[in-house]
Amino acid sequence: MLYIGVDLGTSAVKLLLMDEKGKIHNVVSREHSVDFPHPGWSEQSASAWYENAKEGIRELTKDCDKSQVAGIGFGGQMHGLVILDKEDKPIRPVILWNDGRTIKETDYLNDVIGKDKLSAYTANIAFAGFTAPKILWVKENEPENFAKIEKIMLPKDYLAYKMSGTFCTDYSDASGMLLLDVKNKCWSKEMIDICGIREEQLPKLYESYEVVGHLKAELARELGLSETVKIVAGAGDNAAAAVGTGTVGEGKCNISLGTSGTIFVSSKNFGVDKYNALHSFDHADGYYHLMGCMLSAASCNMWWMDDILKTSEYAKEQEGILKLGENQVFYLPYLMGERSPHNDPKARATFTGMTMDTTREEMTQAVLEGVTFGLRDSLEVAKSLGVKIERTKICGGGAKSPLWKKMIANIMNLKVDVIEAEEGPGYGGAILAAVGCGAYASVEEACDKLVKIVDTVEPDEELVAKYEERYQKFKKIYPTMKGLFQELAE
Ligand code: XUL
Repeated sequence: MLYIGVDLGTSAVKLLLMDEKGKIHNVVSREHSVDFPHPGWSEQSASAWYENAKEGIRELTKDCDKSQVAGIGFGGQMHGLVILDKEDKPIRPVILWNDGRTIKETDYLNDVIGKDKLSAYTANIAFAGFTAPKILWVKENEPENFAKIEKIMLPKDYLAYKMSGTFCTDYSDASGMLLLDVKNKCWSKEMIDICGIREEQLPKLYESYEVVGHLKAELARELGLSETVKIVAGAGDNAAAAVGTGTVGEGKCNISLGTSGTIFVSSKNFGVDKYNALHSFDHADGYYHLMGCMLSAASCNMWWMDDILKTSEYAKEQEGILKLGENQVFYLPYLMGERSPHNDPKARATFTGMTMDTTREEMTQAVLEGVTFGLRDSLEVAKSLGVKIERTKICGGGAKSPLWKKMIANIMNLKVDVIEAEEGPGYGGAILAAVGCGAYASVEEACDKLVKIVDTVEPDEELVAKYEERYQKFKKIYPTMKGLFQELAE
C-alpha cells in the first residue's frame, strides 16, 4: 500500500509518497508566500494551502497505481490561528507561529493571569506565537471577526477538515495552543474561559496516528483516489519530523533546521521546564516531549543569501568557509524576535565584530554559527534540567549542508546521526498514516523498522574547545543588546 505525508510548511506544502517498507516513491513541493503586513507580523491564506495541497496530491500520485493509496497523514506548521465562520469560510488570514503582534496579550497572560497558573493549566507559559494570545488579540482588535468565530483550528487541521469533513486536531499540535492540558490530554476549561471562547469552537482531540475520517467522495473523484483513503490526524511539524527521524520513545533528540530551528527531546514521562524556556508538549507517539524553538533558523541563511547577497548558490557560498571556530564576527539570529529561550518578540538580528578585513565568507559563516549558537542556548536549558543528550538526528532544509552539520556537531558537542530520508515532517506524516492504516502496531515499531541511519558526524575535540570559547562570547551579546531592542521597538 501507499501512504501520503503532507508537510504543511511555512514556505511550501511538501508532499511525499511512501510504501509500507518506508521507500519513498515521489516527493513534490508547492511553494506559497508569507505576508508580512507589519514588522513582526506574519500571515498566510488557508485557502491557498488547501489548493496547493490538492494540486500537490494530484502531481504526487500521477504515475502511481492510485488504488494503492491507503492513507494521508500530516505534519503542519504549529500554533497558527485558523478561524472559520458559520459557512466554514476563513474569517481572516491565518496568523502564523512566528507572528509577534501579541506582546500585550502575552504579557497579560504571563503577568496578570500568571505563569504559575498557566503552567498548572497547560504545562506551558505564553509565548507570542502561541494560539491563545492570538485569540485574545482578535477579540480585542477585531471584535467583529471574533464574533463570527464558529471553529478554531490549527493549520494542518484545516487540510484534514477540508479533506474529511472532520473537525479534529491531535495532541502534539494542540499542545502549542496554550489551551490544552498537556498532562491530562484534554482542553483546559480555565484557558477556554480566559480566552472567552466555548469548547464547541475547538476541534475534537485525537492521537496523531488515529484515523479521523475518509476522503470526501467529491474530493476523491477530483483527485482520482478511492473514497476509502483514510485521513489520519497527523502532528505538529516538529513532532511529525521527530517521527520521521525516529525520535520517539525515551530520551532521543532531533534538530530541525527549517524556517524555524528546533531541538526536540522525546520522553515517555511528562515533564515541565521549571525555567519556562522549553515547551512541554505531547508527542505523536502517544508520549511527551520537550522542545526549544528558534523563530529564524534556515530562514536567516535564506534571508542572507537571497535578499542580501542575492544568490541562490548556497553550497558555493559555503565552499570558502574553512576556518571553523575562529570567526571574529557574531550574528544574533533574531529576525522575527525570539521564542526559546529568551521569549522576546522585540529582539532583533545583529552582526557584531566586523573590521575592515572582514570577508563575505566570515559573514556567511557567522549567520550559520549564530543560528547554531541559538540552538545551543536551548540545549543548555535541557541539560540544566538533567536531560542527557549525546547524539541527535537532524532534518530540514539546513540539514542538507555538510558544513552546518559539522557546526552542529562541534558547537553543541553532539554526535549527529544522518538518516536516509531527511524529509522530516512529510516522512513522519506518511509513517503516521501507515500506523493509522494498520501497517504497524505502533509509531515506535514503525520508526524502528523504517528509519535508517546512514552516517554520523562526530564532534572533534579541538574544534569543540574553540567553539566553546566562541559560544561563551556569543552568550553575552543578547543580554547586552536587550535594553536597546526594547527601546528600538518603542
Ligand atoms: C514550534 C514552531 C515552529 C513551527 C514551524 O513551536 O513554532 O517550529 O511549527 O513550522
